[in-house]
Amino acid sequence: PFPYYERMRETAPVYYDEQSGSWHVFRYDDVQRALSEYATFSSHMGGDDASGTGQLFSLSLIATDPPRHRQLRSLVTQAFTPKAVDALAPRIAGLTDELLEGIADRGSADLIKALAYPLPVIVISELMGIPAQDRERFKRWSDVIVSQTRAGSASEDHTAANMEMTEYFLALIDERRSRPGQDLISTLLAAEIDGQKLTVPELLGFCALLLVAGNETTTNLIGNAVLCLAENPGTMERLLREPALIPQTIEEVLRFRSPVQSMYRLTVAETTLGDEVIPAGAPIVAWIGSANRDERQFQRPAEFDVDRGHNRHLAFGHGIHFCLGAPLARLEARIVLEALLARLPGLSLEQGVHLERMDSTIVYGVKALLVSWQPA
Ligand code: HEM
Repeated sequence: PFPYYERMRETAPVYYDEQSGSWHVFRYDDVQRALSEYATFSSHMGGDDASGTGQLFSLSLIATDPPRHRQLRSLVTQAFTPKAVDALAPRIAGLTDELLEGIADRGSADLIKALAYPLPVIVISELMGIPAQDRERFKRWSDVIVSQTRAGSASEDHTAANMEMTEYFLALIDERRSRPGQDLISTLLAAEIDGQKLTVPELLGFCALLLVAGNETTTNLIGNAVLCLAENPGTMERLLREPALIPQTIEEVLRFRSPVQSMYRLTVAETTLGDEVIPAGAPIVAWIGSANRDERQFQRPAEFDVDRGHNRHLAFGHGIHFCLGAPLARLEARIVLEALLARLPGLSLEQGVHLERMDSTIVYGVKALLVSWQPA
């Protein structure tokens, strides 16, 4: 998509697409505004006419505006502070070792399947108190939900996946109501806003959001990081010598290959963006993936540079909706890169294998990532 973004930033930075009736925004400053000026650019996409997932999400954090957004978010911020998340580090490192243990002596594997997919699923499942044997079913649900690229275009598969997921969470919520634990679902069940408990649809929205937001995105961050390193073998050698550079390397991966390429908003009032006057009620697509390569914000944006200073990428959004899971995603990616460097020496992409991108204009990553290394 990157050459297309570049052309759009240059020639039509705020572009009205007649076919879909939505406005597409490509430059950094405009994307940042659309993401953060919530009084003009609402996150509430309206659940009524939306597809099943639209409805499921419409009551969740990501699709609400203040003041409800602030109240909902405050219920879960404690679980996701850098401090709370750091406490998970030993468990994440243990899981990563276990997953790598299974493949280390093989010398080659699909890293998505062996590591990047299962790790975030297990971590978020444990946070939500989901039994281990149920994790596999998530794969299909979240795949189907993510592959839906346009709001309102629910396929049969998609509707079925939604129904199954909804039923599953309803049962889980019931179970947790009778036997509360230390998990996020129990926390949400106990929570009150102005003396009122969350409604069942609100609880469902939270579950679905955490499931989808936490999994596919982190899988792709890990996959995209391996891609960036495989393309820049010098970087891999440097990280082996200077592991302290790993966090900024991850930030550069987030900028260069952003796992979330676009986010939606809806204008609540007429507004000007770039040179365009946008009416009220207009759907907006803010292209994060383009903002993160905007030459007005970044020097040599098409270069992967781990020494880039001042890397104010928008990969986790901006403003009040800034990704709740960012500390967790960063931690998982750091632990994984450290483990890959230590345990899979000489890691490189299998030659001649076509890299197939995910079928989505929102989520950016590869379906499989065949790599090889010198086996232990
Ligand atoms: C919000 C990206 C991982 C939970 C967001 C937003 C972005 C994003 C761009 C802003 C949405 C908006 O402005 O409308 C990512 C990326 C990830 C990642 C790139 C991984 C690399 C996670 C994880 C979790 C999570 C691991 C949870 C465990 C959420 C939630 C929100 C959110 C709950 C909504 C926050 C709000 O509306 O206040 N994420 N995310 N994300 N993310 Fe993430």
